Amino acid sequence: MAYTENAKEITVKRAARGLLFLLFIIKLRYLSKILIIFAAINLNEMKIALIGYGKMGKTIERIALERGHEIVSIIDVNNLDDFNSEAFKSADVAIEFTAPHVAFDNCMKAMDAGVKVVSGSTGWFQQNEAVMREKCEKEGKTLFWSSNFSLGVAIFAAVNRYLAKIMSNFDNYKVSMEETHHIHKLDAPSGTAITLAEGILENIVHKTSWVMGDLTNPDGSVTKGNVPGPTEIKIDAIRRDEVPGIHTVTYDSDADTITITHDAHNRSGFALGAVIAAEYTVGHSGMLGMKDLLDF
Ligand SMILES: NC(=O)c1ccc[n+]([C@@H]2O[C@H](COP(=O)([O-])OP(=O)(O)OC[C@H]3O[C@@H](n4cnc5c(N)ncnc54)[C@H](O)[C@@H]3O)[C@@H](O)[C@H]2O)c1
Repeated sequence: MAYTENAKEITVKRAARGLLFLLFIIKLRYLSKILIIFAAINLNEMKIALIGYGKMGKTIERIALERGHEIVSIIDVNNLDDFNSEAFKSADVAIEFTAPHVAFDNCMKAMDAGVKVVSGSTGWFQQNEAVMREKCEKEGKTLFWSSNFSLGVAIFAAVNRYLAKIMSNFDNYKVSMEETHHIHKLDAPSGTAITLAEGILENIVHKTSWVMGDLTNPDGSVTKGNVPGPTEIKIDAIRRDEVPGIHTVTYDSDADTITITHDAHNRSGFALGAVIAAEYTVGHSGMLGMKDLLDF
């Protein structure tokens, strides 16, 4: 029985490697790259610890189990001492989705327990990036952080950077952004909107910073934000119903408007991306992000 299963596993791995080789030969530039990453990384089972067992934590658990991984520890507000447990320390990687005010401590505790971390919590990383980088570099720790783990958003972010590069030559177009999320979201603008704004700032020479614009609250009232200066990009935020996440970048001129939008249908795309990032993180170290995982 064990031998048959072993032989089956070897056959599956050989077939997978054959498929990877075939994709490599075909060299479809981006598609093969993405498929290679998706197919290759999950050949080995991982032990995963979950930090935060809310909407994302539960979706990640489902997808991790579907991909053949094991959940060895789940930490939430009622068992915070479990960072010191043998079960937690036995994890190959911890996946952290909690809240802006606790994410920094959670990542520190997990790294201090000797466990690599993938964190998707938003609203905490930008202000702590230098500390986290130093921790990874000086103490040999590993943190993969992304404001958005969705493959679709990674593609959208690449399109956003490319469009910004083109639009840098056309300052008659006024750039602005809008993000819409569910009413439970604590931070505004969203981490993804900030990352997209940074992608624009890297490429448009006449823009130097972003500012928070108007916030439309769940009851429809509007909290007025900043009026952007000529070198600033305004990000408006809307909190409505159970929307998983919509991001729009608009370039407006007297003659016409150019708009790009990413609209997430559910949380599965974020959760799958986080599990794939965890598979990648097990074999890598240091401060990691989506640019390491998806090279475009
Ligand atoms: N990066 C991405 O792709 C992505 C996608 C979706 C959501 N998010 C972010 O992930 C975070 C979580 O989102 P969610 O929808 O799962 O929220 P949620 O409120 O449904 O779940 C958060 C969970 O964290 C727990 N928690 C709170 N403090 C904790 C602590 N100190 N230690 C351990 N657990 C703690 C809560 O009890 C809850 O179960 C948010 O910051 C959200 O913005 C990121």
